[in-house]
Amino acid sequence: PYHPLFDRPLVMIFEKQSTRTRLSFEAGMHQLGGAAIFLSTRDSQLGRGEPVEDAAQVISRMCDIVMIRTFEQDIIERFARHSRVPVINGLTNEYHPCQILADIYTFIEHRGAIAGKTVAWIGDSNNVCNTWLQAAEVFGFNVHVSTPPGYEVEPERAGLYGTDHYEEFADPMEAVRGADLVTTDVWTSMGFKAEGGTRRRDFGDWQVDAEMMRQARADALFMHCLPAHRGEEGAAEVIDGWQSVVWDEAENRLHTQKAL
Ligand code: CP
Ligand code: NVA
Repeated sequence: PYHPLFDRPLVMIFEKQSTRTRLSFEAGMHQLGGAAIFLSTRDSQLGRGEPVEDAAQVISRMCDIVMIRTFEQDIIERFARHSRVPVINGLTNEYHPCQILADIYTFIEHRGAIAGKTVAWIGDSNNVCNTWLQAAEVFGFNVHVSTPPGYEVEPERAGLYGTDHYEEFADPMEAVRGADLVTTDVWTSMGFKAEGGTRRRDFGDWQVDAEMMRQARADALFMHCLPAHRGEEGAAEVIDGWQSVVWDEAENRLHTQKAL
């Protein structure tokens, strides 16, 4: 037993659904001797319009740390400004930092240091993509991004300091060429359901399939934060294929968040 968090509650607030994030935080807190309390918008006063600032004052008096999954990044920042305890981002529309901690750890486990390597991001320039781009600045690797027209990276929204660590490609095949890691995510993220039909049409050529994987390095890995849609952003032959490390990625949410 290793229980440095004995008697310490984590409050987890979910305004969006989750399997991995909830489970990994809850199991991790349990393993470290603490407790995790689950609150969702549906069954708390947050869903009835209690101001986020008031909720932060109250919730942070009853726990030692908070994790929030919400919509706009501004919501978590407002919460954090009024919280007495640290606040972890469990995913916002703009970022998903816990996921990228796990992904980079997974890369290091399989291939060693990520500095100087090339990561190809294929698909939507969403929260997971933005956080990969931030990580590239921190860890010193490069990201080749290919999105359909109209879905390009917005550097300010992505929270980037510069454009030195990524390059955009109109053709996903070009983006993947020579990459050490190919990664993608759903075409329609939580909170964007109304755009689902349009996105399915716009993203048709941005599916990572075996032919696309052959453009990457012979030892390239494939990652997906999950949940995945086989036949949309990733072909089943890739998601379930020999280059895929998606189950290690999911497991590493537990280990990296315990470290965090
Ligand atoms: N990857 C991820 O965050 O999964 P959940 O939505 O299941 O938490
Ligand atoms: N980009 C996805 C990630 C889910 C873990 C979403 O925000 O829905």
